[in-house]
Formats: sequence, structure tokens, C-alpha cells
Amino acid sequence: MDPAADIAGAAVALKAGGLVILPTETVYGLAADAGDAQAVAAIYAAKGRPAFNPLIAHVADAAAARRIAVFEERAERLAAAFWPGPLTLVLPVADEAAVCDLARAGLDTVAVRAPAHPMARALLEAFGGPLVAPSANRSGRPSPTTFADAVEETGAAAAAALDGGACAIGLESTVVALLDRPRLLRPGAITRSQIEALIGPIFEAEADAKRSPGRLTRHYAPDLPLRLNAKEPRTDEVWLSFGPRGGHGFNLSPAGDLTEAAANLFAYLRAADRSDGAAGIAVAPIPDAGLGEAINDRLRRAAGFVG
Ligand code: TXA
Ligand code: MG
Repeated sequence: MDPAADIAGAAVALKAGGLVILPTETVYGLAADAGDAQAVAAIYAAKGRPAFNPLIAHVADAAAARRIAVFEERAERLAAAFWPGPLTLVLPVADEAAVCDLARAGLDTVAVRAPAHPMARALLEAFGGPLVAPSANRSGRPSPTTFADAVEETGAAAAAALDGGACAIGLESTVVALLDRPRLLRPGAITRSQIEALIGPIFEAEADAKRSPGRLTRHYAPDLPLRLNAKEPRTDEVWLSFGPRGGHGFNLSPAGDLTEAAANLFAYLRAADRSDGAAGIAVAPIPDAGLGEAINDRLRRAAGFVG
């Protein structure tokens, strides 16, 4: 297969209003032309996603982001430090047509991110404009971190699909709103302390919940119930462990490495969910420091706790 031909073909499909399964360094996305309301509507339909949950506009770089969002000093600093990479900035919208109303769920803000994956970058360059791309799962399911999982979730709705291998990070991007006070809307691989080192204290998202509709519902959920912070599994549970004393079942990282655990999280949740005869999934405690904050956030959501 010729990746250049694939990317050119995918760009043509996007121009024609089609959807494309796209690898990023975080998770697989389902991409569409951000300015094409019909294509964006097809994304919501493919995912079964409530239309009040806005999408992230993916761009090639900060210059492209400045065309659709109002940048200020803090945004410049974060983009310079972490783009391309797993950081999404929520900013006032600058060009309402470039990212259509439906993609923004009618908000006067827009979420922007420059992904690092070479295929995502190549497609953005070939397409020449912003692409909205939610995670390629059906709404409420774990985000796909492999090509096969992405195709299984939403492949039927896609005009083209790009295979970029397993996602290196495995958790969705960190989302930071820079509207009034900076707020962490979704923890991720760029950690709270990395951001605070550049722009000072960031605040919890609760008071801002209306601006982050994606956080209001149960999310990332497998079919089996999850029991968190378990000391050990019950006889009818699959064991999702962490660290050297894991034992049988699935071990997110035998070495106790949070980066490895993040990369394995969604694929192992899916695998545990497929276990025959299990009544639930027991998950070992995961340390809350650094990337652990994002892992525990996703686990709490998968278990049905919202916040
Ligand atoms: O890593 C990622 O960000 C992946 C890859 C594919 O890039 N994409 C992703 O998109 O996770 P999605 O749609 O699954 O999650 C986007 C999150 C949602 O929680 C949504 O509510 C929030 O970003 N969001 C988008 N636009 C927003 C806005 N204007 N204000 C507040 N939150 C926003
Ligand atoms: Mg998602």
C-alpha cells in the first residue's frame, strides 16, 4: 500500500463530504471537513453522539489555529510548548464558517489542536483546512487505540480509513479552556503541572460544566460493570491490574509505568470486556500523580461516575 496515495485519496474523500478514520498520537479519530455541516452531521449520526457535544478542530499548526480561534498570550505559550501534540485549547471562535455551528454545538468557542501523528499531519496538509475529529468510537464506548478497533466502531460510516498502527499515547488529548480563568476540562498526557508551569494555576471544570458538554454523561464505558480500586478480583471478575504484583488477567503495566498503562488502557478494557462468562471487571488502584490523573479520570467515567 502506498501511504501517499492513501492520504491523497482520503483528502479527496473529505473534500467530497466523506468521513475518514484517522490515526492520531492519542486515539483514532473520525474526521470530516470542519466547515461542512452535512459531513459533520454524518459524524454525529455515525457515533450516535448527542449534538450538544462539540468537536475538536484539528489544524496543522498554530498559524492555522489563529485563523479560526482568538489566540492570546497563554494560548501562544501553550501552543509553542506542546504543539504538535496531545493538547486541545478551547478559545473564543474567530471564524464561525471555518468550523460550522453544528461542530461547535452552537457555542461561541472552538476547541483546537495540532496533532503530532505523521499521518494526521500529512492529511491536514493535503486537505488544506481544519478537520473536526472526535474519537472514532460510537458514543459512550471506549476510544479506539488500534486501527482494527476504529474500523469495528465506525468503519461502516467512513469513506476511507488510514492505518497508522497502535496509538502511542492511548488517551484523548488534555483539554484546557482559556476563556476567563484557565480550566482543565479533560486531563490527559500533557499534565496539569506541565501546563501550570507555563500559565500559572488552572482551575477545576465543575463551574464550567456547561462549556464542556462531553463531561456530563457516562463515557468510555465497556459493557461489563467496573469496580475501581479493587484489592483483588472476585471469582467472577476479570482482573485489570497494575504493577509487578498483577497476577492473572490483564496487567496495564507490569513495570508500574503510567505511560505504558495509559497506552494499554482502552485496548485492555475492550479485551477484558470480551472475556467469556465474566460478571464484571475489577481494576487495581492506579497512582494519581502525573498521567495517573488522566487514567483515573477515564476509569471513573467508564465506571459510571460523572463529574
Ligand atoms: O485526542 C483527542 O482529542 C481525540 C483525537 C481524535 O484528536 N479527539 C477527541 O475528540 O477526543 P472527542 O470529540 O471525543 O472529545 C472532544 C472533547 C469533548 O469532551 C468535548 O465536549 C470537548 O472536547 N469540547 C469540544 N469543543 C469544546 C468547546 N467549545 N468547549 C468545551 N469543550 C469542548
Ligand atoms: Mg470521545
